[in-house]
Amino acid sequence: MAKKDEFLKAIILSAGKGTRFKSEKPKVLHEILGKPMIFYVSLAVKWTAPKETVYIVGYKKGQVIEAINCGGCKFVYQEEQLGTGDAVRRAKEHFKDFDGLVLIINGDMPLVEGETLKNAVKFVEALIRYEGASLENYRGYRNKNVAGAVITTHMPNPFGYGRIIKDKEHKIIRIVEEKDASPEEKRITEVNTGIYIFVAKYLAEAIDKLSNNNSQNEFYLTDVIKILKDMGKDVYSLEHPDYIQFLGVNNRWELAQAEDVLRKKYLSYWAVNVGATIHMPETVWIEFDTDLSKDVEIFQNVVLKGNTKIGEGSVIEPNCIIKNSKIGKNVKILANSIIEDSVIEDNAVIGPFARIRNNTVVGENSQIGNFVEVKNSKIGENTYAKHLTYLGDAEIGNNVNIGAGTITCNYDGFQKHKTVIKDGAFIGSDTMLVAPITIGKEAITGSGSVITKDVPDKALAIERNQQKIIPNYADKRKSSKKF
Ligand code: UD1
Ligand code: CA
Repeated sequence: MAKKDEFLKAIILSAGKGTRFKSEKPKVLHEILGKPMIFYVSLAVKWTAPKETVYIVGYKKGQVIEAINCGGCKFVYQEEQLGTGDAVRRAKEHFKDFDGLVLIINGDMPLVEGETLKNAVKFVEALIRYEGASLENYRGYRNKNVAGAVITTHMPNPFGYGRIIKDKEHKIIRIVEEKDASPEEKRITEVNTGIYIFVAKYLAEAIDKLSNNNSQNEFYLTDVIKILKDMGKDVYSLEHPDYIQFLGVNNRWELAQAEDVLRKKYLSYWAVNVGATIHMPETVWIEFDTDLSKDVEIFQNVVLKGNTKIGEGSVIEPNCIIKNSKIGKNVKILANSIIEDSVIEDNAVIGPFARIRNNTVVGENSQIGNFVEVKNSKIGENTYAKHLTYLGDAEIGNNVNIGAGTITCNYDGFQKHKTVIKDGAFIGSDTMLVAPITIGKEAITGSGSVITKDVPDKALAIERNQQKIIPNYADKRKSSKKF
């Protein structure tokens, strides 16, 4: 973690309901790649290492605070969402006596990069004072008139954003919101990104002078700039070329678009920085908490969710879904397999069409094949269950062969019971193992047996009727037909 910047505090605006989302859930909790939108803004803000981070929360604040999950952060409650200016005013206690800068950012812009914020803070610091000097220390000043800066960008479609009206020296005269803008102002493409850096004491002075005399009857934070101007202070526009970073997410379609931008950004990271091959990236979904290693190969329509790790050299074939699971090195997950909350150890082969779930561990070099479901089971090394099988609540040793169609009958209608199969056992095809049951070392079960009693080491257990032979039955059957 970077050293804290003693001259910086951050305020993150996250009190809004997000009316345009048409949702019961607060806007900033809607997820992008498995994380709430606010997570990404928090992550970017961390790059600036503020001395203190204050979140403005309101709508369903308990849920928002829980999702932010920040030990050292401060939370300020805004009961009624009277506007972004009102939100910042509520946090005034946190900055009114602060000798430094306040970074303010909307909580609904998950694409912003930490580096952008960090550079913006540096820029404003450089405008104001010599490095290391306190803001109160007059000799440390370059320019006493600087009150801060707003990051701006040119949006190809500026609709909905506040427009920047500025002079030739990049000093902002005022920001006009879409709903208050004249047709001429609406043609301006330079917009307010929703990121501001202010000298704390000037902001404290200006924030009290806000009014809600506008088309939405809201207290606009953006009006602070004109107020500062009237106080003889300058706020600069800090133009950034990459407008994508500043897309505000105000409805679910914008959420989908933002998610797509981040999805591609992280895929390119895995490919370029880590050395993973991604086939048809437009179809691949990898969530934020998932980790890939080098020489991993990911095919079409793969979904990797939650806290999933894929080890070096492993291949994930098309249409696999893997969630909260650890995949070892050189593992092959063949097409159409689903793995959840499980561990697959090195060199194992899973699928095609396998389903593995609930804390299953598949040991090294083992193979779980087509139409095999494994639940809450521990499977040793070099063990094979390659076709049409259900293994639930089982503990299976090394070098075991499970024949096609084997079922651990783990549920008696009331409780789940355990099946133990020891090293080297050979389970014949279509064996029903009625749990609780133990199959000994190197024991064998005959195909089609319903095994209800423990089988000792090396024994054969077989449970079937004697086979009957009726000679010429086919001819008798034909002659019995009445046609
Ligand atoms: C805001 C800016 C606009 C800018 C745009 C960038 C204002 C008045 N306008 O518009 O100039 O171009 O962002 O995306 O600021 N919030 C609160 N309390 C409130 C109201 C809002 O905490 O009372 C929070 C919201 O949760 C949200 C953020 O502030 O995270 C921005 O609010 P939003 O209503 O989305 O503002 P925009 O209309 O997008
Ligand atoms: Ca917004």
